[in-house]
Amino acid sequence: MTQTRARADAGNPLAGFKVGREPYFRAIGNEVELYEAAYRTRMPVMLKGPTGCGKTRFVEHMAWKLNRPLITISCHEDMTASDLVGRYLLDAGGTVWHDGPLTLAVRHGAICYLDEIVEARQDTTVVIHSLTDDRRMLPLEKKNEVVQAHPDFQIVISYNPGYQSVLKDLKESTKQRFGAIGFSYPSPEIEAEIVMREAGVDRRAADTLVCIAKRSRNLKGQGLDEGASTRMLINAGLLIAGGIPIAEACQVAMVVPITDDPDLRDALTGAIAACI
Ligand SMILES: Nc1ncnc2c1ncn2[C@@H]1O[C@H](COP(=O)(O)OP(=O)(O)OP(=O)(O)O)[C@@H](O)[C@H]1O
Ligand SMILES: [Mg+2]
Repeated sequence: MTQTRARADAGNPLAGFKVGREPYFRAIGNEVELYEAAYRTRMPVMLKGPTGCGKTRFVEHMAWKLNRPLITISCHEDMTASDLVGRYLLDAGGTVWHDGPLTLAVRHGAICYLDEIVEARQDTTVVIHSLTDDRRMLPLEKKNEVVQAHPDFQIVISYNPGYQSVLKDLKESTKQRFGAIGFSYPSPEIEAEIVMREAGVDRRAADTLVCIAKRSRNLKGQGLDEGASTRMLINAGLLIAGGIPIAEACQVAMVVPITDDPDLRDALTGAIAACI
Protein backbone atom coordinates (compact mmCIF):
# COMPACT_ATOMS: atom_id res chain seq x y z
CA MET A 1 0.00 0.00 0.00
CA THR A 2 1.34 3.42 -0.88
CA GLN A 3 1.80 6.02 1.85
CA THR A 4 -0.85 8.29 0.35
CA ARG A 5 -3.35 5.42 0.28
CA ALA A 6 -2.49 4.47 3.88
CA ARG A 7 -3.06 8.09 4.99
CA ALA A 8 -6.39 8.26 3.16
CA ASP A 9 -7.49 4.96 4.71
CA ALA A 10 -6.49 6.10 8.20
CA GLY A 11 -9.34 8.61 8.22
CA ASN A 12 -11.83 6.25 6.61
CA PRO A 13 -13.89 4.37 9.19
CA LEU A 14 -14.87 1.78 6.57
CA ALA A 15 -11.31 1.04 5.39
CA GLY A 16 -11.29 -2.28 7.25
CA PHE A 17 -14.50 -3.40 5.57
CA LYS A 18 -13.38 -3.33 1.95
CA VAL A 19 -13.56 -6.70 0.21
CA GLY A 20 -10.01 -6.94 -1.07
CA ARG A 21 -9.81 -9.84 -3.52
CA GLU A 22 -12.63 -11.10 -5.71
CA PRO A 23 -14.58 -13.72 -3.74
CA TYR A 24 -15.27 -16.61 -6.10
CA PHE A 25 -18.96 -16.87 -6.87
CA ARG A 26 -20.42 -19.07 -9.61
CA ALA A 27 -23.76 -17.61 -10.66
CA ILE A 28 -26.59 -20.09 -11.01
CA GLY A 29 -29.16 -17.85 -12.67
CA ASN A 30 -29.56 -14.10 -12.98
CA GLU A 31 -28.95 -13.35 -9.29
CA VAL A 32 -26.06 -10.98 -10.09
CA GLU A 33 -28.18 -8.88 -12.46
CA LEU A 34 -31.11 -8.88 -10.04
CA TYR A 35 -28.91 -7.71 -7.21
CA GLU A 36 -27.32 -5.00 -9.32
CA ALA A 37 -30.77 -3.71 -10.28
CA ALA A 38 -31.84 -3.73 -6.63
CA TYR A 39 -28.67 -1.93 -5.56
CA ARG A 40 -29.22 0.78 -8.19
CA THR A 41 -32.38 1.77 -6.34
CA ARG A 42 -30.88 0.85 -2.94
CA MET A 43 -33.74 -1.58 -2.43
CA PRO A 44 -33.32 -3.68 0.74
CA VAL A 45 -32.58 -7.25 -0.33
CA MET A 46 -33.42 -10.56 1.32
CA LEU A 47 -31.31 -13.58 0.28
CA LYS A 48 -33.51 -16.58 0.78
CA GLY A 49 -32.34 -20.17 0.67
CA PRO A 50 -31.19 -23.22 2.62
CA THR A 51 -28.01 -23.36 4.65
CA GLY A 52 -24.70 -23.58 2.81
CA CYS A 53 -26.00 -22.68 -0.64
CA GLY A 54 -23.90 -19.56 -1.25
CA LYS A 55 -25.82 -16.60 0.23
CA THR A 56 -22.92 -15.18 2.24
CA ARG A 57 -20.46 -15.82 -0.57
CA PHE A 58 -22.82 -14.02 -2.95
CA VAL A 59 -23.08 -10.87 -0.85
CA GLU A 60 -19.29 -10.78 -0.46
CA HIS A 61 -18.92 -11.11 -4.20
CA MET A 62 -21.46 -8.38 -4.89
CA ALA A 63 -19.86 -5.97 -2.43
CA TRP A 64 -16.56 -6.55 -4.22
CA LYS A 65 -18.19 -6.13 -7.65
CA LEU A 66 -19.94 -2.91 -6.67
CA ASN A 67 -16.82 -1.72 -4.84
CA ARG A 68 -18.70 -1.10 -1.60
CA PRO A 69 -17.47 -1.91 1.89
CA LEU A 70 -19.36 -4.76 3.54
CA ILE A 71 -20.31 -4.80 7.21
CA THR A 72 -21.62 -8.20 8.30
CA ILE A 73 -23.57 -8.59 11.51
CA SER A 74 -24.31 -12.11 12.76
CA CYS A 75 -27.65 -11.80 14.47
CA HIS A 76 -28.42 -13.68 17.66
CA GLU A 77 -31.09 -13.82 20.32
CA ASP A 78 -29.28 -11.64 22.85
CA MET A 79 -28.54 -8.90 20.35
CA THR A 80 -30.00 -5.56 21.39
CA ALA A 81 -30.80 -2.45 19.40
CA SER A 82 -27.76 -0.81 21.05
CA ASP A 83 -25.52 -3.56 19.67
CA LEU A 84 -26.66 -2.43 16.23
CA VAL A 85 -26.89 1.35 16.56
CA GLY A 86 -24.26 2.10 19.21
CA ARG A 87 -23.93 3.27 22.78
CA TYR A 88 -22.18 5.68 25.12
CA LEU A 89 -19.05 4.16 26.64
CA LEU A 90 -16.92 5.46 29.44
CA ASP A 91 -13.31 6.30 28.67
CA ALA A 92 -10.61 8.55 30.17
CA GLY A 93 -12.30 11.66 28.80
CA GLY A 94 -15.80 10.83 30.05
CA THR A 95 -18.66 9.22 28.16
CA VAL A 96 -18.12 8.97 24.43
CA TRP A 97 -20.61 7.80 21.82
CA HIS A 98 -19.55 4.79 19.73
CA ASP A 99 -21.43 4.06 16.53
CA GLY A 100 -22.58 0.45 16.28
CA PRO A 101 -21.99 -1.49 13.04
CA LEU A 102 -25.36 -0.55 11.54
CA THR A 103 -24.83 3.17 12.20
CA LEU A 104 -21.34 2.96 10.75
CA ALA A 105 -22.75 1.50 7.53
CA VAL A 106 -25.59 4.04 7.41
CA ARG A 107 -23.36 7.04 8.04
CA HIS A 108 -20.54 6.16 5.67
CA GLY A 109 -22.27 4.16 2.93
CA ALA A 110 -21.54 0.44 3.30
CA ILE A 111 -23.61 -2.59 2.43
CA CYS A 112 -24.85 -3.88 5.78
CA TYR A 113 -25.49 -7.64 5.82
CA LEU A 114 -27.61 -8.92 8.69
CA ASP A 115 -26.87 -12.64 8.66
CA GLU A 116 -29.49 -15.00 10.17
CA ILE A 117 -31.83 -12.12 10.91
CA VAL A 118 -34.57 -14.36 12.34
CA GLU A 119 -32.28 -15.16 15.25
CA ALA A 120 -32.66 -11.57 16.47
CA ARG A 121 -35.65 -10.63 18.60
CA GLN A 122 -38.39 -8.77 16.79
CA ASP A 123 -38.05 -5.70 19.03
CA THR A 124 -34.43 -5.48 17.84
CA THR A 125 -35.22 -5.98 14.17
CA VAL A 126 -37.65 -3.06 14.10
CA VAL A 127 -34.73 -0.60 14.28
CA ILE A 128 -34.18 -1.26 10.59
CA HIS A 129 -37.72 -0.21 9.66
CA SER A 130 -37.02 3.49 9.16
CA LEU A 131 -33.99 2.52 7.04
CA THR A 132 -35.90 0.15 4.81
CA ASP A 133 -38.67 2.44 3.67
CA ASP A 134 -38.52 5.73 1.82
CA ARG A 135 -37.29 7.58 4.92
CA ARG A 136 -33.85 5.90 4.81
CA MET A 137 -32.90 7.29 8.20
CA LEU A 138 -31.80 5.91 11.53
CA PRO A 139 -32.84 7.63 14.75
CA LEU A 140 -30.23 7.37 17.52
CA GLU A 141 -32.58 8.01 20.41
CA LYS A 142 -29.95 7.97 23.15
CA LYS A 143 -27.84 10.48 21.25
CA ASN A 144 -30.74 12.63 20.15
CA GLU A 145 -29.61 12.39 16.54
CA VAL A 146 -31.19 11.26 13.30
CA VAL A 147 -28.73 9.87 10.76
CA GLN A 148 -29.79 10.21 7.15
CA ALA A 149 -28.49 7.21 5.21
CA HIS A 150 -25.49 7.77 2.97
CA PRO A 151 -26.52 7.46 -0.72
CA ASP A 152 -24.48 4.24 -1.09
CA PHE A 153 -25.95 2.51 1.98
CA GLN A 154 -27.91 -0.69 1.41
CA ILE A 155 -29.25 -3.33 3.74
CA VAL A 156 -29.18 -7.06 2.97
CA ILE A 157 -30.53 -9.86 5.12
CA SER A 158 -30.34 -13.63 4.88
CA TYR A 159 -33.24 -15.89 5.60
CA ASN A 160 -33.45 -19.68 5.65
CA PRO A 161 -37.03 -20.56 4.70
CA GLY A 162 -38.62 -23.43 6.54
CA TYR A 163 -36.48 -23.21 9.68
CA GLN A 164 -38.77 -20.71 11.37
CA SER A 165 -40.97 -21.35 14.35
CA VAL A 166 -43.89 -19.11 15.28
CA LEU A 167 -41.61 -17.42 17.78
CA LYS A 168 -38.74 -17.02 15.35
CA ASP A 169 -39.85 -15.40 12.16
CA LEU A 170 -39.79 -11.95 10.71
CA LYS A 171 -42.72 -9.68 11.30
CA GLU A 172 -44.85 -9.22 8.23
CA SER A 173 -44.02 -5.50 8.33
CA THR A 174 -40.30 -6.37 8.18
CA LYS A 175 -40.63 -8.93 5.36
CA GLN A 176 -42.63 -6.59 3.18
CA ARG A 177 -39.85 -4.02 3.07
CA PHE A 178 -37.52 -6.29 1.09
CA GLY A 179 -37.06 -7.59 -2.41
CA ALA A 180 -36.08 -11.26 -2.20
CA ILE A 181 -33.63 -13.25 -4.31
CA GLY A 182 -34.15 -17.00 -4.02
CA PHE A 183 -31.17 -19.36 -3.72
CA SER A 184 -31.14 -23.12 -4.02
CA TYR A 185 -28.52 -25.79 -4.59
CA PRO A 186 -27.06 -25.56 -8.10
CA SER A 187 -27.44 -28.08 -10.91
CA PRO A 188 -25.06 -31.10 -10.61
CA GLU A 189 -22.80 -29.70 -13.33
CA ILE A 190 -22.37 -26.32 -11.62
CA GLU A 191 -22.15 -27.78 -8.12
CA ALA A 192 -19.33 -30.09 -9.23
CA GLU A 193 -17.54 -27.08 -10.69
CA ILE A 194 -17.85 -25.22 -7.35
CA VAL A 195 -16.62 -28.24 -5.36
CA MET A 196 -13.61 -28.70 -7.67
CA ARG A 197 -12.69 -25.06 -7.36
CA GLU A 198 -13.26 -24.69 -3.60
CA ALA A 199 -11.91 -28.04 -2.40
CA GLY A 200 -9.26 -28.68 -5.03
CA VAL A 201 -10.52 -32.15 -5.99
CA ASP A 202 -10.71 -33.63 -9.48
CA ARG A 203 -13.86 -33.93 -11.58
CA ARG A 204 -14.44 -37.57 -10.66
CA ALA A 205 -14.42 -36.92 -6.91
CA ALA A 206 -16.59 -33.82 -7.33
CA ASP A 207 -19.14 -35.76 -9.39
CA THR A 208 -19.24 -38.49 -6.74
CA LEU A 209 -19.86 -35.95 -3.97
CA VAL A 210 -22.63 -34.30 -5.96
CA CYS A 211 -24.24 -37.69 -6.58
CA ILE A 212 -24.22 -38.37 -2.81
CA ALA A 213 -25.66 -34.92 -2.16
CA LYS A 214 -28.55 -35.57 -4.53
CA ARG A 215 -29.46 -38.75 -2.69
CA SER A 216 -29.06 -37.08 0.67
CA ARG A 217 -31.39 -34.24 -0.43
CA ASN A 218 -33.99 -36.83 -1.41
CA LEU A 219 -34.11 -37.82 2.26
CA LYS A 220 -35.30 -34.37 3.23
CA GLY A 221 -38.61 -34.68 5.01
CA GLN A 222 -38.01 -38.40 5.62
CA GLY A 223 -36.11 -37.77 8.82
CA LEU A 224 -33.60 -35.22 7.58
CA ASP A 225 -34.47 -31.54 8.00
CA GLU A 226 -32.14 -30.69 5.16
CA GLY A 227 -29.92 -32.72 2.82
CA ALA A 228 -26.17 -32.15 2.48
CA SER A 229 -25.37 -28.55 1.50
CA THR A 230 -22.77 -27.38 -0.98
CA ARG A 231 -20.72 -26.40 2.08
CA MET A 232 -20.75 -30.03 3.28
CA LEU A 233 -19.60 -31.26 -0.13
CA ILE A 234 -16.70 -28.85 -0.02
CA ASN A 235 -15.77 -30.04 3.48
CA ALA A 236 -15.78 -33.63 2.24
CA GLY A 237 -13.73 -32.53 -0.78
CA LEU A 238 -11.15 -30.82 1.42
CA LEU A 239 -10.69 -34.04 3.40
CA ILE A 240 -10.33 -36.03 0.18
CA ALA A 241 -7.79 -33.53 -1.12
CA GLY A 242 -5.97 -34.02 2.19
CA GLY A 243 -5.67 -37.76 1.56
CA ILE A 244 -8.68 -39.17 3.42
CA PRO A 245 -10.46 -41.98 1.51
CA ILE A 246 -13.72 -40.78 -0.02
CA ALA A 247 -16.07 -43.01 2.03
CA GLU A 248 -14.53 -41.87 5.29
CA ALA A 249 -14.44 -38.24 4.23
CA CYS A 250 -18.15 -38.41 3.43
CA GLN A 251 -18.94 -39.94 6.82
CA VAL A 252 -17.10 -37.16 8.61
CA ALA A 253 -18.39 -34.29 6.50
CA MET A 254 -21.81 -35.42 5.26
CA VAL A 255 -23.28 -38.11 7.49
CA VAL A 256 -22.31 -37.78 11.15
CA PRO A 257 -22.99 -34.00 11.38
CA ILE A 258 -26.55 -34.18 10.08
CA THR A 259 -28.13 -37.10 11.88
CA ASP A 260 -27.89 -39.27 14.97
CA ASP A 261 -30.55 -41.66 13.70
CA PRO A 262 -28.94 -45.08 12.95
CA ASP A 263 -31.43 -45.85 10.14
CA LEU A 264 -30.77 -42.56 8.42
CA ARG A 265 -27.02 -43.04 8.83
CA ASP A 266 -27.41 -46.44 7.16
CA ALA A 267 -29.41 -44.90 4.35
CA LEU A 268 -26.76 -42.23 3.80
CA THR A 269 -23.96 -44.79 3.97
CA GLY A 270 -25.83 -46.78 1.32
CA ALA A 271 -26.05 -43.65 -0.83
CA ILE A 272 -22.31 -43.14 -0.53
CA ALA A 273 -21.60 -46.74 -1.51
CA ALA A 274 -23.92 -46.43 -4.51
CA CYS A 275 -22.18 -43.31 -5.81
CA ILE A 276 -18.55 -44.29 -5.32
N1 LIG B 1 -22.55 -20.31 -6.17
C1 LIG B 1 -21.42 -20.48 -5.48
N2 LIG B 1 -20.25 -20.03 -5.94
C2 LIG B 1 -19.11 -20.22 -5.23
N3 LIG B 1 -19.05 -20.86 -4.04
C3 LIG B 1 -20.20 -21.33 -3.54
C4 LIG B 1 -21.44 -21.16 -4.21
N4 LIG B 1 -22.41 -21.74 -3.47
C5 LIG B 1 -21.81 -22.24 -2.38
N5 LIG B 1 -20.48 -21.99 -2.41
C6 LIG B 1 -19.51 -22.49 -1.43
O1 LIG B 1 -20.26 -23.01 -0.34
C7 LIG B 1 -19.83 -22.44 0.88
C8 LIG B 1 -21.05 -22.14 1.72
O2 LIG B 1 -21.71 -21.03 1.18
P1 LIG B 1 -22.22 -19.82 2.10
O3 LIG B 1 -21.40 -19.73 3.33
O4 LIG B 1 -22.31 -18.64 1.22
O5 LIG B 1 -23.66 -20.39 2.47
P2 LIG B 1 -24.91 -19.65 3.10
O6 LIG B 1 -26.01 -19.77 2.10
O7 LIG B 1 -24.52 -18.29 3.54
O8 LIG B 1 -25.26 -20.59 4.35
P3 LIG B 1 -25.86 -20.22 5.80
O9 LIG B 1 -27.32 -19.96 5.58
O10 LIG B 1 -25.62 -21.47 6.59
O11 LIG B 1 -25.10 -19.04 6.31
C9 LIG B 1 -19.03 -21.19 0.52
O12 LIG B 1 -17.99 -21.00 1.43
C10 LIG B 1 -18.52 -21.51 -0.85
O13 LIG B 1 -17.30 -22.21 -0.73
MG1 LIG C 1 -24.24 -17.46 5.48
